[in-house]
Amino acid sequence: MPRTLIEIDRFSDEPLYRQVRRAIEHGIAIGTFDPARRLPSSRQLATDLGVSRNTINLAYQELMAEGYVESKERSGLFINRDMRPRCAVQERDTRPRIDWGGRVRRFPDAGLAHIEKRADWARYPYPFLAGQVDVTTFPARSWTRCLRDALYRPHVFHSLQDSLGSDDPMLVDMVRRHLLTARGIEAGPDEVLITVGSQQGLDLLGRVLLGPDQVVGMENPGYLDARHIFLRTGARLTGIDVDAAGLRPPASLDGVDLLYLTPSHQHPTNATLSIGRRRELLRQAASAGTVIVEDDYDSEFRYQGSPTPALKALDGTGDTVYLGTFSKFLSPGLRLGYLVGPRELAGALREARRYVLRHPPGHLQRALALLIESGEYHRSLRRYRAKLMRKWSATCTAVTDHLAWPQPPYPPGGVSLWMTGPPELDCRRLVARAERRGILIEPGDIFFLTEDPPRHHFRIGFSAISQRSIVPGIRLLAEVCDEVLGEP
Ligand SMILES: Cc1ncc(COP(=O)(O)O)c(C=O)c1O
Repeated sequence: MPRTLIEIDRFSDEPLYRQVRRAIEHGIAIGTFDPARRLPSSRQLATDLGVSRNTINLAYQELMAEGYVESKERSGLFINRDMRPRCAVQERDTRPRIDWGGRVRRFPDAGLAHIEKRADWARYPYPFLAGQVDVTTFPARSWTRCLRDALYRPHVFHSLQDSLGSDDPMLVDMVRRHLLTARGIEAGPDEVLITVGSQQGLDLLGRVLLGPDQVVGMENPGYLDARHIFLRTGARLTGIDVDAAGLRPPASLDGVDLLYLTPSHQHPTNATLSIGRRRELLRQAASAGTVIVEDDYDSEFRYQGSPTPALKALDGTGDTVYLGTFSKFLSPGLRLGYLVGPRELAGALREARRYVLRHPPGHLQRALALLIESGEYHRSLRRYRAKLMRKWSATCTAVTDHLAWPQPPYPPGGVSLWMTGPPELDCRRLVARAERRGILIEPGDIFFLTEDPPRHHFRIGFSAISQRSIVPGIRLLAEVCDEVLGEP
């Protein structure tokens, strides 16, 4: 029972036991008490309220005499379920005082579609989703050990203290030495900011760099969540087309304040930005004063050849802002990522973050640092990459074998295939029809920045689905595609 439920007024003329009784009676009437749970003992309630046990006993006796409360042998006192409807409750006016619809601020992204994630996705036999992981690949045992170790000396202070705006120095060190170097990036500790995922990195950049007068360039099709975040700052978006070699550099970046892109595996097509285009974009950005934001969300997952170095690694000025995440490996539910940028910018982002959430949870940061230091992070990553490669290969073969239209070679990376159906295929119908047959796929039209987006694309993710479900799932999807294509 909440302690605040019973308020005792020691100066009232009403006897204390009556006040207690009235408060409990009211609590019963408004449904505060769970009929399945024992009421507090007279000893406990007397201590909580600072009154004598006699006072409580008297109150309970009256409630029992009137049938509100009943005593169950060897279990204690419970409220009487049958009495509830008879309790006198004052009719409460539940109409809100405030017109919330009018009061809640309307952001400029209000009309934009959202990436939808079904909470019950794991119950579907064929979840072809890119934004979820196969939970069986999470290194649960090592993670549990790291979480435990992070609560003992010498780690416990970093896990539990209020760090204000600071990050865990051990995690920053691990990110710099073990993750950034693999991407060809050198950064000082004050150039790294730990985030609660790339999404927070984007939000902070929006808060610090963007406003209603700014223009943001984005890949078209591109990452819908980034579009929401940028639009919410009031900035204007301009879409830049994408082809098989990634974003096509425009004639110039003049007038573009910030360019957001996904060079390793373009989201959602998975194309890798060619080296020539990377150099051209850096040249254009330097000449136009454009801030480049590189979202390197799943570069670990390259299945042929070696990963291309990060765009940031090519930028001698150090101005490119880099976003990394632990959402693709280890898990999106952990909500951890990092941002690398020039010291001055990182400082401003840190200050902005301090007034949003101070810092990401210290315990998680230290546990992750320990996981990387132990070598288990990279061992698990290698295992996961090998598993994903098998899934990528099975998915490519299955779509080639079963879908009715010719398939292109798919880029050897990422966690999804970007599908281009015949022009008459309606991805919305396909998604809805597939869901009824137990298959989850994503519609492609939501990723386009254009007014009237093409509807014949869809996305098949293979990170969450089990290896053995891929072929039967694609075979069934091919049947659904045939049905949808065969309809008038
Ligand atoms: C393009 C892109 N960037 C970043 C992320 C990861 O975001 P976060 O780190 O906030 O989970 C995703 C996840 O789906 C993504 O698709």
